[in-house]
Amino acid sequence: MGRWTEKEAITPMSSNAASSKAASPNAMSPNAGRSAGPPPSITAPVVRAAKGSGTPLVMVTAYDAPGARIADEAGVAIILVGDSVAMVVLGYDDTLQVTIDDMAHHVAAVARPRPRPLVVGDLPWMSYHVSVEDTVRNAATLVRAGAQAVKLEGGRKRVAMVRAIIDAEMPVMGHIGLTPQSIHQLGGFKVQGKQAAAAAALVDDAVALADAGCFAIVLEAVPDGVARAVTEAVSVPTIGIGAGPWCDGQVLVFHDVLGIEDRISPKFVRRYASLKRDAVEAIAAYADDVRAHRFPSDEESYHLSGDVAEALGLYGAAPKSA
Ligand code: KIV
Repeated sequence: MGRWTEKEAITPMSSNAASSKAASPNAMSPNAGRSAGPPPSITAPVVRAAKGSGTPLVMVTAYDAPGARIADEAGVAIILVGDSVAMVVLGYDDTLQVTIDDMAHHVAAVARPRPRPLVVGDLPWMSYHVSVEDTVRNAATLVRAGAQAVKLEGGRKRVAMVRAIIDAEMPVMGHIGLTPQSIHQLGGFKVQGKQAAAAAALVDDAVALADAGCFAIVLEAVPDGVARAVTEAVSVPTIGIGAGPWCDGQVLVFHDVLGIEDRISPKFVRRYASLKRDAVEAIAAYADDVRAHRFPSDEESYHLSGDVAEALGLYGAAPKSA
């Protein structure tokens, strides 16, 4: 994902998608309705089959075990362990700084609590740009870390890599439009597909990715009409971010939804909480209590028994001599 300025950003997310807490794959899973055992996790084929179900797919990013538990309990369909981790967690200015080992570390943390949503691991820059062998090996690194699918950026030029990963039995999610790993080529985090030729190229890219076997395609920062044309042109779900309401699903970054990230406010982000502000207030209250000797209280402290305290010579009693 990219970090946006108001100037660059586009249409707001649809309220329809925003309110769809329970994604349609919940109802589509083969064991839905059975009472015994935990509910089955959502798979790539279940996501693929959600095209046209009428209920938008809900995807959110997460980068660690608490984030995975929150996304799971909130009932989302897909958790993306995005390379946005570089910007919202690791403090970099772009996504180009994270490696396959960094991504595997975060995928493993997300997968460890075994969340029910599909876990998609983002292939970072330069992990699928050189040889096919390295691409497949890098995808396998994320799957061994716990991902059930991988995502990569780019359209027709990625088809060979997409096919190779799928041949090795790993589902692939595509990502076109604004592809933040191409930020230097694109000249910044800018809306893509605004001219007719660029819009037509995006449709061709999406069709090529779907034909190559991608089970879903992320559309980032494209005009809503372009997203609509792409969505109508492909038989797999489109998942939009800054792409308007006519996608088959929506994705937002965890830290944006929760207001943990409050420095940049892209137009397409809807904040549902202000956790950064709440956290600052909470830590400040803790600091005040410590400085004013209000924390810890007697109830928040462990106590010795009277005998031991006496033996240690605490509270003014002299220690017993041996
Ligand atoms: O890395 C990321 O978070 C992403 C999405 C927001 C699509 O690629």
